[in-house]
Amino acid sequence: MRTAGLVAGGVALALLAQGAAAEVTKVQEKGLKPYEIVDGHTIPKPLTDKPGDPKRGAKLVVTRKKGNCLACHKIQQLNDFPFHGNIGPELTDVASNLTEGEMRLRLVNPKVVNPDTIMPAFYRTEGLHRVMKKFQGKPVLTDQEIEDIIAFLKTLKASQ
Ligand code: HEC
Repeated sequence: MRTAGLVAGGVALALLAQGAAAEVTKVQEKGLKPYEIVDGHTIPKPLTDKPGDPKRGAKLVVTRKKGNCLACHKIQQLNDFPFHGNIGPELTDVASNLTEGEMRLRLVNPKVVNPDTIMPAFYRTEGLHRVMKKFQGKPVLTDQEIEDIIAFLKTLKASQ
């Protein structure tokens, strides 16, 4: 898969060199707001007009029936909460490593970045497996909840 990624990267660079526009993929799933993936790695535009609330985001991150992010990720700023997993990379310094748009795509549909990832897609209604009937047609997180979590992730810098 690595080669495919490198080839795609080369194509993107070639397009940039020619001054061509970014490659934009429009996504519209049943029951969800439409959004745009740019160059296969970022959703630069927020899903809602209302800015995310980092406090609510932190709560969603630790809530098991919502984000449940700590099941897989360590976040030192949330050390008051027990049981941080290490299945995914530590997010203590994620704001230094990823742009807001890259975080948004990870949450909405991480399979775009890595088709083999075990991280759940939090803003999808289609292409999901093992979904209980009462949850079918609904994303795990609402558009505003996604923005709240991003607002929280943007505060995560190791130096602070
Ligand atoms: C079932 C485990 C699991 C859960 C739950 C999970 N993730 Fe992940 N996450 C991963 C794995 C594994 C990766 C590594 C990259 C990959 O697999 O593509 C990852 C990658 C990431 C990345 C990219 C980090 C980087 O430095 O590249 C971010 C950001 C992220 N997750 C945020 C979250 C947030 C926020 C939540 C909760 C809403 C969450 N994850 C829930 C497993 C999980």
